[in-house]
Amino acid sequence: PAPFRVGLLGHGTVGSSVAELLPQRADAIAHVTGLRPEISGVLTRSRGDFDEILADSDLIVEVMGGTDVARDHVTAAIRAGKHVVTANKQLLAEHGEELWALAREHRVQLRFEAAVAGVVPVIRVLQESLTGQHVDRLHGIVNGTTNYILTQMAATGASYAEALAEAQRLGYAEADPTDDVTGKDAAAKMAILARLAFDSPVHLSDVPYEGITHLTSEDIEYARDLDLSLRLIGTAERIGDELAVRVHPAFLYRGHPLAAIEGPFNAVTIESPAITEITLSGPGAGGPQTATAVIGDVISAMIPPAQTPPTRNTLGFVDDVTSSFYLH
Ligand code: HSE
Repeated sequence: PAPFRVGLLGHGTVGSSVAELLPQRADAIAHVTGLRPEISGVLTRSRGDFDEILADSDLIVEVMGGTDVARDHVTAAIRAGKHVVTANKQLLAEHGEELWALAREHRVQLRFEAAVAGVVPVIRVLQESLTGQHVDRLHGIVNGTTNYILTQMAATGASYAEALAEAQRLGYAEADPTDDVTGKDAAAKMAILARLAFDSPVHLSDVPYEGITHLTSEDIEYARDLDLSLRLIGTAERIGDELAVRVHPAFLYRGHPLAAIEGPFNAVTIESPAITEITLSGPGAGGPQTATAVIGDVISAMIPPAQTPPTRNTLGFVDDVTSSFYLH
């Protein structure tokens, strides 16, 4: 089969897993798509030349993170007519509208399943299965690091610092875990989910967020004593003609679909009248897990097309958000 050349930008936790897993699966992917994927170049902080990699690639995988250089490279790739697969939630939460419009203009695919909830296929469900379907509300546990920390603290009595160090060691946390523990990582992911669910632009700055840094062991004990689960929850809901998107810790009653989500797992519950409710869950962080989502997007780009359409709505945002700290 003819080659399908994949240029890899970034060789951290996710990038190194893509570089390892894609060749292992190349024969099977060739069998399905008729093209054999191969890594045509790798850009790291110290080696590789972006222009050369771009020229040698049919598709660019961006897993370098950050919003400056990554934005330049993704923009250049789209302008050069290359498909792009990215895991970069901050990039899309801040510059998604511009990049999606550019991809439509240049008739290339910009795919981002790995940007939210790792290998859990929530982007596909919102972008494909639920197109045109009215969505009332989403709830999500969309940060694996904080879910790991909260569940480890509750289950083993580990300290916050110990649990965070372990999440870093296991490859769940961002290079700088500040985004994880402050809720900014989850806020970016909720912005992306809300954008798709409500077909209206949502920027990171539209999402008030609060992380887990101020939680104490008393909060954990309080939850355990009352048989509640303490989780970092993202919510996106339509309230009349407005949207409310937010991230904050919440106590969940046992029986809530998100209450049983443990460790680095993520879950997203989508409430929509026609389907009642769907909850998708699975590993939301980790190298091989996230790389699997990236490779899934590469395969999808080899079998066109899927595009994020222009927005149809421009919904305002609820100013005075009343947080619901208890979820039934
Ligand atoms: N640091 C992120 C998390 C990785 O913990 O969820 C996946 O986006």
